[in-house]
Amino acid sequence: MMIRKIFNRKLVVAFAWAFAGFSMLHADEGMWLPLLLDQNEAEMQRMGLQLKAEDIYSINHSSLKDAVVIFGGGCTGEVVSDQGLVLTNHHCGYSAIQYHSSVEHDYLTYGFWAGNFEEELPCPGLEVRFLKEMRDVSGQILAGLDEVSPSLSEQTRKDSIQARADRLSTPLEKEGYEVRIVPFYYGNQYYMFIYEVFRDVRLVGTPPSNIGKFGGDTDNWMWPRHTGDFSVFRIYADENNRPAPYSPSNRPYVPKHHLKIDLRGYEEGDFTFVVGYPGSTQEYITSYAVRLIQDLIDPMRISARTERLDIIKAAMDRDPKTRIQYASKAAGIANGWKKWQGEVKGIRRLNVVGSKQDYETVFQDWCQSVNGREFTGVLPALEKAYQDLEPYLAMQIIFQEHTLAPEAVSFAYSFTRLRNVSTGSDTSLSLEEALASCRERADRFFKDYDPVVDRRIFERLAFMEEADGTRTQVISFPGNTLEKQLDWFYGKSVFTSQERMEAFLDKYKASSYKALERDPLFKYAQVVYGQYFNQVYPFIKKYNERIDSLQRIYMRGQIKLKESGDFASLMRVGVKNDIPVSNVGSERLYPDANFTMRVAYGQVKGFKPADAVQYAPYTTLSGIMEKENPDIYDYVVEAKLKDLYARKDYGPYANALGEMPVAFIGTNHTTGGNSGSPVLNGDGYLMGINFDRNWEGTMSDIRYDADMCRNIMLDIRYCLFIIDKFAGATRLIDEMDILYPLWWSENAAM
Ligand code: ARG
Ligand code: GLU
Repeated sequence: MMIRKIFNRKLVVAFAWAFAGFSMLHADEGMWLPLLLDQNEAEMQRMGLQLKAEDIYSINHSSLKDAVVIFGGGCTGEVVSDQGLVLTNHHCGYSAIQYHSSVEHDYLTYGFWAGNFEEELPCPGLEVRFLKEMRDVSGQILAGLDEVSPSLSEQTRKDSIQARADRLSTPLEKEGYEVRIVPFYYGNQYYMFIYEVFRDVRLVGTPPSNIGKFGGDTDNWMWPRHTGDFSVFRIYADENNRPAPYSPSNRPYVPKHHLKIDLRGYEEGDFTFVVGYPGSTQEYITSYAVRLIQDLIDPMRISARTERLDIIKAAMDRDPKTRIQYASKAAGIANGWKKWQGEVKGIRRLNVVGSKQDYETVFQDWCQSVNGREFTGVLPALEKAYQDLEPYLAMQIIFQEHTLAPEAVSFAYSFTRLRNVSTGSDTSLSLEEALASCRERADRFFKDYDPVVDRRIFERLAFMEEADGTRTQVISFPGNTLEKQLDWFYGKSVFTSQERMEAFLDKYKASSYKALERDPLFKYAQVVYGQYFNQVYPFIKKYNERIDSLQRIYMRGQIKLKESGDFASLMRVGVKNDIPVSNVGSERLYPDANFTMRVAYGQVKGFKPADAVQYAPYTTLSGIMEKENPDIYDYVVEAKLKDLYARKDYGPYANALGEMPVAFIGTNHTTGGNSGSPVLNGDGYLMGINFDRNWEGTMSDIRYDADMCRNIMLDIRYCLFIIDKFAGATRLIDEMDILYPLWWSENAAM
C-alpha cells in the first residue's frame, strides 16, 4: 500500500516562516514522560507539532507509542509496516547479524536481504518489547516509607519496596506481561511499565558494513557523519497475533500501530521529536559529583584507555588477522574513551562545577527558610559522602581499567567455578557441565586473542600516568620483577596459550583443580579479585547507598525549591545566574533517563563547534565520495554505490535540490539507548532514525547546552534509497506507507 499525498511545500515553508520567532523561546532540553505529555503539548505545538499529546501516548486507542519498541537489551526500534517490519540501527542489530555471519555467508561484510518471508532469519535470544501502559504507582510503593525513612536502613527500605513491587506485578505477570517498576527522581516517584515481549524476531536485511558502519570508529561521535546506520527486522507472532517463542508456523505480527514514512524532507528549524529509550543521565547531581567525574573518573579512564588503544591499534595496523580479532574490542573500548573526552571538555567549558556550586549556595540559603528547613544538612552530608567514596572509586577504576585490562586475568578468574565444582564446594553443576562451559568460553576467548598484545597491555597498564606525566606503578609483585612475572604468566599459564589450554582441558579430571590452583594467572586472578571484593567493593557499596538516600532527599529539595517559587528571591548580587537550565528554565524538572520511554523534541539545526566554523545540519552522498579511500577499511565505498552516485539514480529519495541526503542533526535531547529511535516530524511521520550524538555535546548526560548538543540521525530517505536502489529489496518498500514529495508525484503523474 502506498499513499501518494500531494503536498504544497512552498505554502508550508511560508507558514513555518511566519512562526519562526516563537521557536526561540524554548530550551530543547528534556526527556519527557509520555504519560504526562499533556504538559508539553502547547510548547510542542508552538514549535510545529500538528498532533495532540494523545496521538503520541494513549492507553485508550492506538497511538505512536504502539509503534516503538525496546530492541534487544539496550536499543530502540520502530514498526514501519502492518506486517511487523522493524527498523533499528546497524550497531543495534550487529550481534544478530554477526550471529548469522560465517565465512560462506559473511553478512557483516556484504550485507543480507531476505527475498521473501521464508528467507528471514530467526535470531535466538533477540526480543522486542512493546509498552502497553505505564502507571504512576508512587502511592502504593512509597506509602509510609518517607515518614519513617530516616530510621530505615537503605536496605530495609529497598526490601519493602521490592515486596510491594512484586505484589503489584504478579497479577499482570500471570496474564503474560512483563512488568518493570522503576524509580524516578532518585526514588521519589515510582512508575510501573507493562510490556508485551515478542521472542520471535527475524533478520530481514542489513546493508554491508561499509554502509552500515561507514566511517567506523574514526567518525564515531562525530559530525559531519555519513554512516548508514540501520538494519531491518520483523516481529513474528502466533496464529492469534500473540507473542510466542520461535516457530516456523508463526506469522508476521500485525501491530496496533505502524509509522508512516515521510520522504518530503525538512528545512533547518523544522520541528522534530524522538520517542525512545534513553538509558541514563545525571542532570541533578551535585558539584561534588561532577568534580569527581571531571577530575578523577573520566581522566583516569581516558588515560588508561589511551594506552590500551595505542597498543591495540599498533598491533591492528601491523597484522590484518589482529585487525579482525580486535576490531570489535577496540570499538567498545574506544566508544567510551571518545565520549568521555567530549564530556570532560564540555563540562569544563560550561563550568558545570562552578554553576552547580552557585546553585548549591542558593539551596543552602533556602534551607534557612520555612520551606527549605527539612533539607538542612543534605548538601554537607553529600559532600562528605563523596569525599569518603573518592579513594575507593579510584581503586575501583584501577581495578577495572588497569588490573583487568589484560584479558587473561578475567578469563582466568572465570575458571573459579570449575575449581569449585572440582573440589565439591559448588554442586549446582556437574563436572562435565562445568568443563563444557569452560571449553566453550576458551574457544570464544582464543578466537580473538593475541598473547603478545595482551602481554604488552599488562606491561604498560601496570603503570598509571599521572597528570604531571610521571608514571606510578599500580600493579606490582613483591619479590619479583614485573618482567619475570610476565614471563611466567605468558610463558607458562594455560590462560595465555590455546595449546596449553586444550591440553589442560583434555586431560582434566576433578583432582586437576590442584594444577589449576598452581597456575600463575589463576593464582594472581584470585588475589586481585579477592582484594577488590574484600577491600574495595564493600566501601563502594556502602558510600553509594549513602549517596543514593541523600540524593533522593536532595532531589526532593530541588523539586520543592522550584515549585515553591522561592528561587528568584534567593538570587543575590554576585551569584551568577547560570544555574542548569533544567533547574531554572523549564516549568518542571524532567526526570533523569532510566531506560523508560521518553519523548524528546527540538529542531533540525546546525551548530558552531569552534570559532569561525559552522556546521550545516545535513550531509549528503557527495560527502561519502569525498571520504572514500579504498585503502582505509572504514572508508571503502562499493562500486554499486559509486555507480548510483555517478548516475544520480536517487528516485524519490533525493531532496528538492537533487542531492541524496544521508544524515542530519537536531537539538533533541538523547543519550545511549536512544539508538534506533524513530525521529518524527510535526505530522508524526518517520523522517529519520537516531544513532548518535556529537562529540562536543556528550556532556548533555550531565548538562545540556542548546548551542552545542546535537543528536545525529540517519535520514530516512537514505535508508530507503539503500533498501530500494542499492539492495533492490523493493518488497520491503512496497509494504511501507510512504509519503512522496510533490516533485516526485508530479513526475509520476506525467
Ligand atoms: N557512538 C554510538 C553509541 O554510543 C555508536 C557506537 C557504535 N559505533 C561504533 N563505530 N563503535 O552507541
Ligand atoms: N549510539 C548510542 C546508542 O547506542 C546513542 C548515542 C548517544 O546518544 O549516546 O544508544
